Amino acid sequence: MAREKIMKMFGLLAASAMFLAACGGAAAPASEEAPAEGAANDGAKKLEIFSWWTNGGEADGINAMYEIYKQQNPGVEIINATVAGAAGTNAKTVLKTRLEGGDPPDSWQVHAGKELTQYVDADKMEPLTAFFAEQGFDKVMPAGLIEQLKYKGEIWSVPVNIHRSNVLWYNKKIFDENGLTPPTTFEEFQTVAEALKAKGITPLALGGKDKFETPHLFESVLLGTYGVEDYNKLVAGDEAMWQDARLAQSAENLKMMISYSNEDRASLAWADAAQLVLDGKAGMTIMGDWAHGYYLSKGATVNVDYGYAPAPGNVGVFMWLSDSFGLAKNAPNPDQAKAWLAVCGSKEGQDAFNPKKGSIPARTDADVSLYDEYLKYSITAFASEQVAPSIVHGAAAPEPYMVAYNNALNTFAADTDVEALVVALQDATVELK
Ligand code: GAL
Repeated sequence: MAREKIMKMFGLLAASAMFLAACGGAAAPASEEAPAEGAANDGAKKLEIFSWWTNGGEADGINAMYEIYKQQNPGVEIINATVAGAAGTNAKTVLKTRLEGGDPPDSWQVHAGKELTQYVDADKMEPLTAFFAEQGFDKVMPAGLIEQLKYKGEIWSVPVNIHRSNVLWYNKKIFDENGLTPPTTFEEFQTVAEALKAKGITPLALGGKDKFETPHLFESVLLGTYGVEDYNKLVAGDEAMWQDARLAQSAENLKMMISYSNEDRASLAWADAAQLVLDGKAGMTIMGDWAHGYYLSKGATVNVDYGYAPAPGNVGVFMWLSDSFGLAKNAPNPDQAKAWLAVCGSKEGQDAFNPKKGSIPARTDADVSLYDEYLKYSITAFASEQVAPSIVHGAAAPEPYMVAYNNALNTFAADTDVEALVVALQDATVELK
């Protein structure tokens, strides 16, 4: 991977010494002694991991890391505490209740970037700066990414991946049979959508059940309408950008796209929408590349059953987010939790997790041969394209903003009132600062 480019993409091009040569970063087993082989686990040694990974691909990925953990830490019982609901809509609420009640899981899934600041402010996480140095993670992850894990002078979590949020997935057979190519602009999107509609195929599969799906679609529409430079200003809270006529244009573009989507969207999860494309009932869906992990888990083949392209207007821009795990303050099992974080950041852990999850490794020394055609494309894209942070998946904005933004977009999904969306989003910008 072109490391300098990654640094540049994060806007943090620094001394090249910040990227050190690839190295192992071996995972440290939990410090207590493992029971003799075959001995019953009396329940004394446990590790509780909290996430929202329940769908095909997601569950496969985390299980692959659990397998490595178990090999390295025999005798530790893993409690896989999942709360279903994509993008963590339900999980984050449950987590907050647990944290406030003094019942933290040892480690939980949190997005790199602004999302994690809430837990630090609430004094719920342990800093991991020294742990990073001990494990050598600071030497094998892009400096720009590490910057996203820092807050108040410390590193707070271990990233397991980089996901791309702005991908258009399409039914390859339908596109080939009808001589269609993935739309690169909103105008092309409309032309392709009309062609699909004429064939009786739902042009765009869209979910709504987990209340992140329309917000997710809209971040790619904002990027496609404003362009990357101005999108980045927008999410940095630049008032002039939010007063710009392109905000209403973005809402119009979204309205147009929603008009080509399935009417039952409010009751479908993202995976249901992805499945419509696989089944040939819909032509396209716009979703993060966890959809690739989902398709793989269904036995589908990329570029045979489904194809991929940047969302309309997003060509040449990689909208990124990163899943990471932190260490709870007063974790019930801190040693086991540290051994878990060691697996999360290790080359072995990441190379087992990411090919199933549909994401690319956060480390720069991954074994690229283990990654399929789509993921190889994504590794190259991340290293060569411009980058923009995802709003919905915690990279760009703190939780209070995400809530206000999501509410505005979910209202819009039902009423498609352009003016009301513009006002709601302009009002929400106070939370971006
Ligand atoms: C994102 C998360 C992904 C994937 C997705 C759907 O927020 O970063 O890893 O799980 O939600 O649930």
